[in-house]
Amino acid sequence: MTPRERFLSAVNCKNLNRPPIWLMRQAGRYLPEYRALKDRYNFLTLVQTPELATEVTLQPMQRFPLDAAIIFSDILVIPEALGQSYHFRESGGIGMNDTLDAPQKIQALNNSGITERLNYVNEALRLTRKELGPTHALLGFCGSPWTLAAYMVEGGSSKDFSKIRHLALHEPAQFESLMQKLSIACIDYLKLQISAGVDAVQIFDSWAALCPYEKYPLWSLKWIQQIITALDSEVPVILYAKGMGHHAIQLASTGAKVLSLDWTESLPQVYQSLRKPLSLQGNLDPLVLTTTPEDTRREATNLLKDTTNCSGHIFNLGHGMLPQAKIECVEALMDTVTMWNHD
Ligand code: CP3
Repeated sequence: MTPRERFLSAVNCKNLNRPPIWLMRQAGRYLPEYRALKDRYNFLTLVQTPELATEVTLQPMQRFPLDAAIIFSDILVIPEALGQSYHFRESGGIGMNDTLDAPQKIQALNNSGITERLNYVNEALRLTRKELGPTHALLGFCGSPWTLAAYMVEGGSSKDFSKIRHLALHEPAQFESLMQKLSIACIDYLKLQISAGVDAVQIFDSWAALCPYEKYPLWSLKWIQQIITALDSEVPVILYAKGMGHHAIQLASTGAKVLSLDWTESLPQVYQSLRKPLSLQGNLDPLVLTTTPEDTRREATNLLKDTTNCSGHIFNLGHGMLPQAKIECVEALMDTVTMWNHD
């Protein structure tokens, strides 16, 4: 079985001796070879230059026996292609170069020709597909409309993203118009990624937990469902909704093939709460990789034991890799997962 077949089998709820593994933000600041490239090029140049994006995507694949690569990019390429670019703040976090604080600014977001402006991702995916060969899975991704809107309306990273909630509550027509534009952009963008050869796409609803319980279906899931329906099962969709395990049945009803859970959830409990079996992805606490190889082996083993009775598990972190992650811990994790045998 190739790593790609292992990944696709797990997506399709097959029981395997050991789960496939890939990591979120596996291309990142904990790798010296990534930092060396960052000394020469800024983040946006890396993202927008297909040869460099391919190189960064493949860096972790050369070091670790991962089953799938995720294309090096960012969810914020969509706001940028719509006319709202971004930067990294000196103090950390994201700053948008403008804030959507007037209806005219929402109107001015330009959806037409978005795939041409995102052609660098198309090229990076095609090049990566070629270099990766047929043995390993390649993942594309986008942010959910809700999570993208949170950054765009707030003007950057924030603790509570109160502005998007205010807009959704108080200006529902403006909110709808923004979400409609973002959904269409996400659909066009994911179709571009599918035509470039990705095996699956992941939708990141990282800021799902900002929504009041009863608003989540309307404010976020509705738009995710619209995207998944438009993709018409061309490739499986993995849905990561941070802090939303208690909405598992609704998450599943979007048509996602895999639910990706953060580290605060119990995979077996979420699995049991579902009406029909669905593959789950996750959910090691990213902090584990900042401890020691021994601690990492113990925690990864506990998670593997926990998932014995779940059909279809993709091993992953509960969120992105931290810059402080230690390479020896990632190695211990890879050993533990690749040597595992559920039998
Ligand atoms: O996993 C991968 O390697 C694929 C590439 C990837 C990146 N960002 C590269 C990146 C993916 C899948 C993302 C998704 C992303 N980007 C999300 C959703 C997932 C999540 O984390 O919840 C969000 C919210 C973003 C927006 C974003 N980009 C943030 C909040 C940050 C961190 C800013 C900070 O100061 O901490 C980024 C930067 C970013 N995106 C890095 C990488 C490798 C680090 C860049 C660097 O400093 O070199």
